[in-house]
Amino acid sequence: MEVIIRPDVETAVDLIVKLIVARIKEKPNATLGLATGRTMERVYRRLVDSEVSFARCRTFNLDEYIGLPRDDPNSYRTYMNKHLFDHVDIDPANTHVPDGCAADLKQAARDYEAKIVAAGGIDLQLLGIGEAGHIGFNEPLSSFMSRTRDKSLTPTTRAQNAEMFGGDAERVPKRALTMGVGTILDARELVLLATGQAKALIVAKAVEGPITSMVSASAIQMHPNCKVVVDEGAAHELQGREYYDFVFSNEPEWDGFRNVKG
Ligand code: F6R
Repeated sequence: MEVIIRPDVETAVDLIVKLIVARIKEKPNATLGLATGRTMERVYRRLVDSEVSFARCRTFNLDEYIGLPRDDPNSYRTYMNKHLFDHVDIDPANTHVPDGCAADLKQAARDYEAKIVAAGGIDLQLLGIGEAGHIGFNEPLSSFMSRTRDKSLTPTTRAQNAEMFGGDAERVPKRALTMGVGTILDARELVLLATGQAKALIVAKAVEGPITSMVSASAIQMHPNCKVVVDEGAAHELQGREYYDFVFSNEPEWDGFRNVKG
């Protein structure tokens, strides 16, 4: 794992976007794993501005609320259309979001896994992190071998996402269909973005703490090709920053990425 600390949100987002664009240029038919949430809104805005072509890309989103129809304003399908898909040249048929309204959720979860496999697996998986330590909606105690499945959301997650439901945590769906931790770890590359001081403690636990299913995001420590990009706020509790900064300043792989401006 590598941790890259950028001075502010804009420079952190720019680095992530530059990385995603580089990967799509290297492999124009890349299969991308995508995340939603407030952190990613800026990423998608910048990706749209980058004018990179998604014409040959396929995408798989991490999760969807159970019970929200795809055209509900708060569904993650609506989020993705609004923030990315409607503004780029991707073929809508190549975009996938779990079906939270499927009559048979277990079958929908199995079908989702099968589609990822049929697409040749995920090349680059974009991740955020929740205050409960989740990646996707893998709440505490999610098995590190878990696959796409239905999952109950924690009160912390429902409170974190209440803003999008008129500030009322009770209106946030109680369950979601989410890729499993095992599904996420199968991606060939992971890139996690966290910004703001509210994420500082959980980022430190995920990156430097013990690997534990109590913090699903700590599973990324086991991935051989994982980058964590944080701004100063989210980096606040990290112990090893001197070394992380040294690696970012010296490793040739980061040569084209150091002078990214916000
Ligand atoms: C959503 C997802 C979640 C979010 C996380 C952070 O698809 O995967 O794990 O990334 O809850 O959300 P924000 O960015 O709103 O703090």
